Amino acid sequence: MLYENELKALKKSGRYRTREVVNNDILDFASNDYLGLAHKKELHTSTCQELSELPLHSSKASLLVNGYHQIHKDFERALCEANGFKDGVILGSGFNANIALIDTLVRKGDVLFMDEKYHASGVLASKLGHVNVHFFAHNDMNELKNLFLKYSEAKRKIVAVEGIYSMDGDILNPEIFEICERDDTILIVDEAHSSGVIGDKLMGVFNYYNIAIQPNHIKMGTLGKAYGSFGAFILASEHIIEYLINRAKPIIYATSLSLYDTLLAHNSLKFIVQNREDLKTEIKIRQKIILEELDIKIDALILPILINDNKKVIEIKNVLHHDGFAIGAIREPTVPKAIIRVIARLGQSSDELRLLCQKISAIMIK
Ligand SMILES: Cc1ncc(COP(=O)(O)O)c(C=O)c1O
Repeated sequence: MLYENELKALKKSGRYRTREVVNNDILDFASNDYLGLAHKKELHTSTCQELSELPLHSSKASLLVNGYHQIHKDFERALCEANGFKDGVILGSGFNANIALIDTLVRKGDVLFMDEKYHASGVLASKLGHVNVHFFAHNDMNELKNLFLKYSEAKRKIVAVEGIYSMDGDILNPEIFEICERDDTILIVDEAHSSGVIGDKLMGVFNYYNIAIQPNHIKMGTLGKAYGSFGAFILASEHIIEYLINRAKPIIYATSLSLYDTLLAHNSLKFIVQNREDLKTEIKIRQKIILEELDIKIDALILPILINDNKKVIEIKNVLHHDGFAIGAIREPTVPKAIIRVIARLGQSSDELRLLCQKISAIMIK
């Protein structure tokens, strides 16, 4: 049997995984649908209505070969306006967006500095032959400054960080904006878990820290999380977007984002803009419940609880599943030490979250 030994090794170390069909009868505290928009029927209905009025329903081709539609352009403009960026491009998935950014922007003679907890897609891209990468300890700005000194000869310095880190749920160290400004460095911020969740306008970490957008700032956001759709966007200066459109393989050699996903994400953006005060109130309520019940302060809607045992996290997940709650059991190598991860998504009520926290608290005491 092919790969028999590899599969055996995974099973032995507790790292073996299987796909499980979603059970829609239990409460969802596992998915990344932070605002519960994936279940808002009115968003789906209005999207279908708009789509049915178009002469076609598939994007048919790549952005550069007859696959760039007015609805793509309209959504890109709306994202730029909402986030204060000059230009933007949408594409299919955040994974591809990270590959596009790292592969295209890091040229010969440049140095990439990446937070050690950056998403797997960025880490994968950093392994491409032409990329000279140095990882710095998570959120450690002193180490980053020292690396800058060490590699001061770099033609260009490019830094890659996340707004809210996907596994720890912690927020980006704001010092990064000053450091990158001083050194005239390109700053890539992956806002997969912060876009739609933090900031006065819920636009993410630039918005949260009130950062005036500069030409060296790049924001990547995903549409499959708080936006309840699928795909991703990259926002940046006009020059950077122009360059990406000309050189980024995941943009050039892939079918453009589906029309349904684009329209749906645009409707979600409108919903977030119109309902931001109510959404912020609901987010704060969930953060308060977690503080009250588990004494843990969270920056966004990710609650990680360290268990440090690959088998135990599965046991906890199964117990909670039996009680009607879906949570994430995240094991090595995705994280250095196994955790259970609760997403305090707005799609479940605050009472349901409180009940889950009480159950987790009881399990932890046992
Ligand atoms: C931090 C981060 N970046 C990028 C991605 C990839 O985004 P997508 O799911 O749209 O491919 C993810 C999602 O899993 C993520 O957590």
